[in-house]
Amino acid sequence: MNQSPRVSLITTPHKGIRNFLAQLSLQAGSIDYSSREAVAELKQRFEEVGLLLEEHAASENNFILPALEARVPGSAAHDEADHEELHQLQDSLLAQLNHILDSGAAGEEAQQLGYAFYQGLSRLHAGHLEHMLEEETGTQVLMWQHFTDEEMMQVHGQVIRSIAPNVMLTWMKYILPAQAPAERLQLLGGLQANAPEPFFRQVMEVAKGVLSTPELTWLEKKLSAVVAG
Ligand SMILES: [Fe+2]
Repeated sequence: MNQSPRVSLITTPHKGIRNFLAQLSLQAGSIDYSSREAVAELKQRFEEVGLLLEEHAASENNFILPALEARVPGSAAHDEADHEELHQLQDSLLAQLNHILDSGAAGEEAQQLGYAFYQGLSRLHAGHLEHMLEEETGTQVLMWQHFTDEEMMQVHGQVIRSIAPNVMLTWMKYILPAQAPAERLQLLGGLQANAPEPFFRQVMEVAKGVLSTPELTWLEKKLSAVVAG
């Protein structure tokens, strides 16, 4: 369920992105960069998040923006350019992390390299926040002007089918805790009704790891009521 009565293809992933960027920022600001283990853990998180960011940009570049461009010529260029710029920044940040690990930097030098990474990550974080808000207040509004909800659901289907199951599970880890209860119920209810049972169970395992006990109890009660009903 979106705040708007119209279908949105970006609200759900954007909530997940805002969640993981905040977590990543906290982690990058609070670790000891002279600990190889801590930097390796940060790199692991950065790569996981990076994969989702790339997948999301690809979904927009391959399905959403071409559909919009076909009806509103010139509308896709700005978002595509943003995606490219943010991707380059992401690559350079990964190179910075690899440098910290590979150079064997220690002590004060490691802390300085770590702080430079932290500032760069802040630039990536800010860039994505601004970009997502532009998409939600600009690109999304154009979609609503030129597409029916049914047409947007067709594009949504293309996007969903393009995402590998393991990548979808990683998305769930960040999306589910970022959603309002009713949105979460709608998403999981849809999966319960339409996805293969083993996959739905895997998603519920992810939910158990990221939601609080009251959130989970409420959800399970509602989902079993749907089945029973
Ligand atoms: Fe985008």
